[in-house]
Amino acid sequence: MSSVDPGFGVYIHWPFCRSKCPYCDFNSHVAAAIDQDRWRAALARELAHFAGDTGARTVTSIFFGGGTPSLMEPETVAGLIAAVGDYWTVADTLEITLEANPTSVEAGRFAAFREAGVNRLSLGVQSLDDDALAFLGREHSAAEARDAITLAAAHFPRFSFDLIYARPGQTARAWRRELAEALDIAGGHLSLYQLTIEPGTAFHLSGVAAADDDRGAALYQAAREMLSAAGLPAYEISNHARPGEECRHNMTTWRGGDYVGIGPGAHGRLTGDGTGATEAVNQTRMPAHWLAAVEARGHGTARRTRLRAGERSDELVMMGLRLAEGIGRERFRRLTGTDIGEAVDGAALERLRDGGFLVADDHGLRVTDTGGLRLNAVLVALLA
Ligand SMILES: C[S@@+](CC[C@H](N)C(=O)[O-])C[C@H]1O[C@@H](n2cnc3c(N)ncnc32)[C@H](O)[C@@H]1O
Ligand code: SF4
Repeated sequence: MSSVDPGFGVYIHWPFCRSKCPYCDFNSHVAAAIDQDRWRAALARELAHFAGDTGARTVTSIFFGGGTPSLMEPETVAGLIAAVGDYWTVADTLEITLEANPTSVEAGRFAAFREAGVNRLSLGVQSLDDDALAFLGREHSAAEARDAITLAAAHFPRFSFDLIYARPGQTARAWRRELAEALDIAGGHLSLYQLTIEPGTAFHLSGVAAADDDRGAALYQAAREMLSAAGLPAYEISNHARPGEECRHNMTTWRGGDYVGIGPGAHGRLTGDGTGATEAVNQTRMPAHWLAAVEARGHGTARRTRLRAGERSDELVMMGLRLAEGIGRERFRRLTGTDIGEAVDGAALERLRDGGFLVADDHGLRVTDTGGLRLNAVLVALLA
């Protein structure tokens, strides 16, 4: 994997959680009982289905996301990792990430996940403040989060944790204090997500308001400055890392690489050997329907569509501009056969460059700090 070769990933979705957080609109469900043996068999079967579909590739990352994959049996995780190795060549530097919640029950299984082959843990800490954790409906305390971080550092060569900011009433001063505490215990990577209020969530229904643009921008800037000064600059809108500690799996997707997505609601991107065309692959969202489909026909694919050239280049621009490195000219050409300059509106590009929102040079296209704050508006103009 390099900035020109984006790598090839495998994403595995575990759709269950112990409870539903009031802000979350991920494909996550609370189930009374989960038949782990049935789920293990179905995930393995769908993985085998895709292995027959991709030809010979070298897997550079596996990502167990959710939902709450730390509720998976470690044997299931081990079995799926082994199956990836049976079906594909794996890179020496294979990154295997698992998302975990920091309750004490799950922390008790960290050693077993490491044993299973996981080499990177991503912890959903969300806050280091007990009142904020209660507001966010989390099942863990700040003390449990700290203990889980200590354990993650002891067991895994690499780990990261997530924080949610721009909560109602959160001041820049309080956010800086929380970040300073986070930096004291962080490894090489932190994900900082601005609270969004998604339709259909409990927060949306009860009228919780998102921060206005000015407060959101002030907190975003405060985080960028502090983390940059601490040696973990932003490499993507919400992600910060020491150089070399970036999440390789997410880099593959943002750089437009192919990935297989298995499990309910997972999506993938697969490029045909002969055609060079990329297909968007979407798995059935509801867990019970996905399970029934896999058991009946070996996979739970709901939709598989070949992306038109314009759709593909638009998505590469949308994902690539999230990254600090931007869109590499050479990579873009390799993935699409066209120059990046032809994929965007030329007049808008010039306007945005003159206004200090974009840099366009020999390397490619990237947003400035000012452009990053208004990424949606920049994209609307470029892709009009
Ligand atoms: C799939 S979830 C996390 C996995 C794990 N179940 C957990 O909660 O710790 C990925 C991350 O997205 C973030 N997230 C989810 N919904 C969000 C929202 N509405 N606003 C901001 N961040 C959100 C949270 O930080 C969460 O850890
Ligand atoms: S934030 Fe994590 S634990 Fe909470 S509902 Fe979403 S996926 Fe589940």
